[in-house]
Amino acid sequence: MHKKAFRTLPDLEKACVSTLYKNWRSKCTIPTAGLYPFQWLWDSAFSAVGWAYIDLSRARQEFQTILDCQWKNGFLAHIVYHDDDAGKSYFPGSAFQGAGANPYAPKHVATSGITQPPNLGYCLEQVFQLDHARAEHTDFYKNTISGIFRFHAYLYRDRDPKQEYLPYIRHNWESGTDNAVQWDAIWQSFEPRQYDIQRRDTEHVNDQQRPTKKDYNYYLTLIELSKELNFDEQQMQKTLPFLVQDPLFNALLVASNESLARLALQFGMSDIANTCLQWAQKTKKAMNRKLFDPIAGMYNYYDLRNEKMIKGSGAPSMVALTAGIPNKRQAHLMKKTLQSAHYWGEDKAYFLCATNAVTATDYDSKRYWRGPVWIPTNWLIWKGCERYGFKSLEKQIKKDSLALVQHYGLFEYFDPAKSTLQDPDSTGYGGADFSWSAALILDMIQSDNANNTKSRLDLYQQI
Ligand code: GLC
Repeated sequence: MHKKAFRTLPDLEKACVSTLYKNWRSKCTIPTAGLYPFQWLWDSAFSAVGWAYIDLSRARQEFQTILDCQWKNGFLAHIVYHDDDAGKSYFPGSAFQGAGANPYAPKHVATSGITQPPNLGYCLEQVFQLDHARAEHTDFYKNTISGIFRFHAYLYRDRDPKQEYLPYIRHNWESGTDNAVQWDAIWQSFEPRQYDIQRRDTEHVNDQQRPTKKDYNYYLTLIELSKELNFDEQQMQKTLPFLVQDPLFNALLVASNESLARLALQFGMSDIANTCLQWAQKTKKAMNRKLFDPIAGMYNYYDLRNEKMIKGSGAPSMVALTAGIPNKRQAHLMKKTLQSAHYWGEDKAYFLCATNAVTATDYDSKRYWRGPVWIPTNWLIWKGCERYGFKSLEKQIKKDSLALVQHYGLFEYFDPAKSTLQDPDSTGYGGADFSWSAALILDMIQSDNANNTKSRLDLYQQI
């Protein structure tokens, strides 16, 4: 039997706090040392949710740092290379990304030219709810709401060619689910260039747990094609071979629009509130019209370049629950799917929520987004279950998430099979001491302590 990484819940809770401290770098949290040494967009927002229990000034700073690097057209980059080291510690570094040539890019810092799922508004609201000093920080909240609003405006303006209110992603890394099985069909639609590069990720993590070399050829080709167009949105829209309406990305856009609307109202910013509400409603409708799959009981993807539907699978296709997108009937179908043998296994032999059906031929229990359980998607679906009143599923997802980190530690992702725990050599996968796992597990633990925040804060200050 695998030995538990944390014997008790308080041990786990303390580790969540110390992991966030460990990964803090003067003005933001990195995902984990070594593997991801810079600021990643959606990771940062999730980290802020954890910081809100520990040090609110860091939670606020996380957003501030992101917005200090916002492009003039509203775009937010997936990586900000603070303390750039010319690609020595991470590949692709800022030189390979080459986004600085775009006229909208900031001059004071290098960033990538692709974005990530828009979870900022949603996470900002979580922080706001815990911020007992929010009355003293109205300027911060107003500026942050405006900055995130500009990001959403960019998405609807520059990435929605048919005005469907379903902005596309133009690189698989923008999905946050880098090597998901959904991209396989797109890779068959174009020839990648060949790269013989020195990857840094496989120096830190077993290569069976990472995307393959062949996958990387596609990822880098997309970056280079974009770079050759100076990351000009119109040009990229015309020619890039990857343009996808992604259900996780759009679900978080809806959730963030709703959160921004509520926050904006608190600060008398009614124009922003009205626009965000309209966007949220229109994107919800579009997701239900175009992407919902009543047979599979989840949301699909749409390949805009090749005009083809791509089947959804697993956790990312379920995040629509978080944003209240499915109606009651649709939500029940989704719940049934998650609890079916395809995701839970016969006799509930798997931890929820795998990122691919465990019965699928392309299921891979180790390789990144092709099967493993990830804490951020679990956390979002857990919140979604709360929203729909799916009490037992909500409890189960929390129980499974806590069991995984308690056994393995605060890793990046996990083997869904419960039988793996019997193997004394089994471990969590990807990076260890992972910030978003720490932050969101802390929030799950704290959800039982809603009235206890103050005393917890005192506890954490002593760590
Ligand atoms: C991986 C994940 C991505 C995350 C990044 C940093 O690339 O797929 O979602 O943002 O690591 O943690």
